[in-house]
Amino acid sequence: MNILHICADPQPMEEAASKQIAASFFAQLVTLNENARITNVDLTLEQPAEYTTAEFRNFWYPQLIDGYVPTREEEAAAHYANEQATILRDTDILVLTMPMWNYSMPAMMKAWLDHILNPGLLYTITDKGNEANHKIKKLVLLVSSHQVFSENDPRDGLSPAIETSFEDIGLSDVSVIWADGQNPKLHVDFEQRKAVAIEAAEELAEEICEDFN
Ligand SMILES: Cc1cc2nc3c(=O)[nH]c(=O)nc-3n(C[C@H](O)[C@H](O)[C@H](O)COP(=O)(O)O)c2cc1C
Repeated sequence: MNILHICADPQPMEEAASKQIAASFFAQLVTLNENARITNVDLTLEQPAEYTTAEFRNFWYPQLIDGYVPTREEEAAAHYANEQATILRDTDILVLTMPMWNYSMPAMMKAWLDHILNPGLLYTITDKGNEANHKIKKLVLLVSSHQVFSENDPRDGLSPAIETSFEDIGLSDVSVIWADGQNPKLHVDFEQRKAVAIEAAEELAEEICEDFN
């Protein structure tokens, strides 16, 4: 079982709820499945560059313009995306860890998604819609936020955007574990909320291991 873990939380582990949830999730996963192979990408240490016109042309023009051949500069601009897609094509489970920032995801996570969700990488655009070119079976989002969010909360610009983007490329099995109410000044039960999320993460790891055994 190959797991790719993308983390976009700059806080140190002892202060980062999302990272603590991730740590418990992975500890349970490796305890229950000795074949779990985890690749960690810390976006705070290796931040993706901004998406450029050259990269856009490299991936989108051949799909949209008959016979378009990218230039060498356009091909070179796709290096990071190609590198990440190579790891993703060998991934069974994708885990994205992040805090909510301004009702959305941190920009570094958005940049990573912009690079990897290009046509010709994990999917191809056909007359009948997108055709998947990956074997990712499950997407897990591990999120933290100061505010409290209800299910389908209209203020949530994080999980629906990510879920829909992956649905578009044929991945609809998504689990979201969210420690909300993490502002200690506003929510006296913030530790309890985190503990509930950690427990849910451990249960999810168990379910995943059962599915993969
Ligand atoms: C730039 C920035 C924007 C934030 N925006 C929001 C927000 O829109 N909603 C929210 O609930 N919390 C927001 N927060 C608070 C973080 O989501 C909160 O600190 C989170 O628990 C941090 O996660 P961590 O403990 O995993 O590091 C924001 C924090 C920062 C630094």
